[in-house]
Amino acid sequence: MREFCSLPQAVAALKRGELVAIPTETVYGLGGVALWPGTVARIFEVKGRPTFDPLIVHVPTLDAVDEIVSSFPPAARSLATHFWPGPLTLVLPKAAQIPDLVTAGLPSVAVRIPAHPFARELLERLALPVAAPSANLFGRVSPTTAAHVADQLGDQLDWILDGGPCSVGVESTVVSFAEAGVPCLLRPGGISLEALEAVIGPVNWPQPITSEHPAVAQLAPGTLPQHYAPLTTISLGDLSQTIPPGKIGALAFQSCPRPERFAVVEILSPLGDLAEAAAQLFAAMRRLDCAGLDAIIAERVPDYGLGRAINDRLTRAAWNR
Ligand code: TXA
Ligand code: MG
Repeated sequence: MREFCSLPQAVAALKRGELVAIPTETVYGLGGVALWPGTVARIFEVKGRPTFDPLIVHVPTLDAVDEIVSSFPPAARSLATHFWPGPLTLVLPKAAQIPDLVTAGLPSVAVRIPAHPFARELLERLALPVAAPSANLFGRVSPTTAAHVADQLGDQLDWILDGGPCSVGVESTVVSFAEAGVPCLLRPGGISLEALEAVIGPVNWPQPITSEHPAVAQLAPGTLPQHYAPLTTISLGDLSQTIPPGKIGALAFQSCPRPERFAVVEILSPLGDLAEAAAQLFAAMRRLDCAGLDAIIAERVPDYGLGRAINDRLTRAAWNR
């Protein structure tokens, strides 16, 4: 396990081509300088991620975005001015200087200006774009604390910058402007569909990726049906129904009926606040996963606002392997 580092150390390490786990307001990212193919190749290697799944490039300012994209349509720019810095990723036609490895050979690049103060200061001081997928092993639950990163990637990682628990807790919303026409929501996340549409009008949303709709995975190569999965079997269900025998865990939104039936109960938000539920989701999934359970039953949350992102992650976690 390598060391926790200070912000200047993180900047220096990135300049040397090393990888640093960096805090963002969504989840921790596994960062390396996006312009250097050798560094980017190591990101894929450490994460165990297939190279057909492109990375998000993080920059500190709109000027820096202009340097890595070849066009920036007005609607995309409106979203950028409304929601950046923040949990929104825009997929835009890429500029030549972004290596093909970053974009998995696609002519578009995913870009984000994160809001976390450490991420912003790091990007400003570094003055180079940083490619960063979530700092988890491929297909596993994303990290929302530095300890989560150390647990999963500590042995292979150069450095971890600890910026505390992530305030949003689910990944950024990914919106594509790669094709002409109506923008397309590739991944629900920290900015709700309602908020996007309030700024730019209708956004296409292909069928959520489930076992019945695997085709959408080709639009956003990373949105594979089985993703965000704990090792313990997880299924979606009604927590008031009869449960199977054995040590069963419950992942509940506001409350759990007759909790004594369960070995462990995790409540995401007693007051029914979707933002709080999102912030708690991945840590709760990890605690359940570490509890030696036979199975986990999770209930869906209301399907609006951040609830869509939460239900998307739950559906993927429960996807029948
Ligand atoms: O909140 C986040 O977005 C976090 C933090 C670290 O910024 N990052 C993150 O990265 O979640 P990752 O690699 O786990 O997810 C990136 C998603 C994937 O679904 C990927 O397929 C999609 O963005 N993506 C990246 N580039 C793309 C492109 N050019 N076209 C379509 N989808 C793209
Ligand atoms: Mg990820």
